[in-house]
Amino acid sequence: MATFLTFFWMIFSVSTFFVSLSTSTLLFQGFNWESSNKQGGWYNSLIGVVPDIAAAGVTHIWLPPPSHSVDSQGYLPGRLYDLDASNYGNGSELRSLIKSIHDHGMKAVADIVINHRTAEKKDRRGIYSIFEGGTPDGRLDWGPSFICRDDKKYSDGTGNLDSGEPYPMAPDIDHLNPRVRAELSDWLNWLKSDVGFDGWRLDFVKGFAARITKFYVDRTRPDFAVGEIWNSLSYGKDGELAYDQSRHRNEMAAWMKKAGGAVAAVDFTTKGILQAAVEGELWRLRDAKGRPPGLIGIRPESAVTFVDNHDTGSTQRHWPFPPEKVSLGYAYILTHPGVPSVFYDHFFEWGKKEEIMKLSAVRRRNGIAAGSKVKILAAEADLYVAMIDGKIITKIGAEMDLGNLIPPDFKVAADGNDFAVWEKQAC
Ligand SMILES: *[C@@H]1O[C@H](CO)[C@@H](O)[C@H](O)[C@H]1NC(C)=O
Repeated sequence: MATFLTFFWMIFSVSTFFVSLSTSTLLFQGFNWESSNKQGGWYNSLIGVVPDIAAAGVTHIWLPPPSHSVDSQGYLPGRLYDLDASNYGNGSELRSLIKSIHDHGMKAVADIVINHRTAEKKDRRGIYSIFEGGTPDGRLDWGPSFICRDDKKYSDGTGNLDSGEPYPMAPDIDHLNPRVRAELSDWLNWLKSDVGFDGWRLDFVKGFAARITKFYVDRTRPDFAVGEIWNSLSYGKDGELAYDQSRHRNEMAAWMKKAGGAVAAVDFTTKGILQAAVEGELWRLRDAKGRPPGLIGIRPESAVTFVDNHDTGSTQRHWPFPPEKVSLGYAYILTHPGVPSVFYDHFFEWGKKEEIMKLSAVRRRNGIAAGSKVKILAAEADLYVAMIDGKIITKIGAEMDLGNLIPPDFKVAADGNDFAVWEKQAC
């Protein structure tokens, strides 16, 4: 009997272990384009809502770029080690925020901007190309030869050619220079070991070769890493979004492969198709092979889905989701494979908190994870229905007549205007 119980206990512990491994990663973008203007500081403000974010089942909070920067939002960084000159707050406030995130069982993801860097001083030709790292011992103190020589505005001709796309607003850093890679890896490892960050959201990774991203990920071994490859979707002659977006998602899949497979990609394909689909074109949500049409249709474990972020939405609105359809966006990403992310604005400013919490609870209760399997049951103009892992069914669209698509043992677990999610009842 004792032996039997021990055996039983072992099986039980092993299965518990697997459950925790398959626990769904849920990302939260903890800032928007205006956060740097927050009275009293953004870090001090965000720390007050960390418990609310944790209660939604969030596992990782993405924070804004932490360093001194020439722009207020942090995307033109200069003195990388200087955390006290950020508009979001100072270094000790950031450390307190990260401690609170950890105390609530979550991880902190840093926004890493390393493609380009703002120089501190002018060189002898009067060009801003003398960099300072922000430490007394000369780390990251670089000169013009650390800039790509084809960066027309800033080059002195001695750096390597840029291995990626040019960035017009600041000097493109020469990542083929071994000292650049060594010192940036050291800085990233300092953000991990000293400041407490656990993972990276890599800004503008198109700006350098994928193998360079692989180098930094290998050297720093983050808990979570996702890169921003934001390419244009295909549009027809009439300006209409094309149905087949496989080239778009294949580009991201190819990049991830070259980047070594340890880094995910932001699923811009799903974002672009989904926001067109919710306008009465839900047929877009099934590709020619019956799969979801975004990156989640081919590489779900490595696709970070989202509805809007600080660039596409917020006050910039470069590519916004139709505002009145945002709930439909969450009903899709929070029930589908991929790693979903929740935007601060929707959760705290748009009144979507309860809806998002309910959908996230359904996701966790049913063990829906990045690699979950989707079976699309309907994809028409006003009706999209899909079963995920045989456990939940998601319906999006105004169509009320569902025929017999929903089996009798499924019960509604979350619903709102034009969407519903059913859960299979335990027998
Ligand atoms: C950081 O800000 C706090 C106020 O939140 C202040 O007490 C502290 O002195 C500041 N630290 C530095 C290094 O500026």
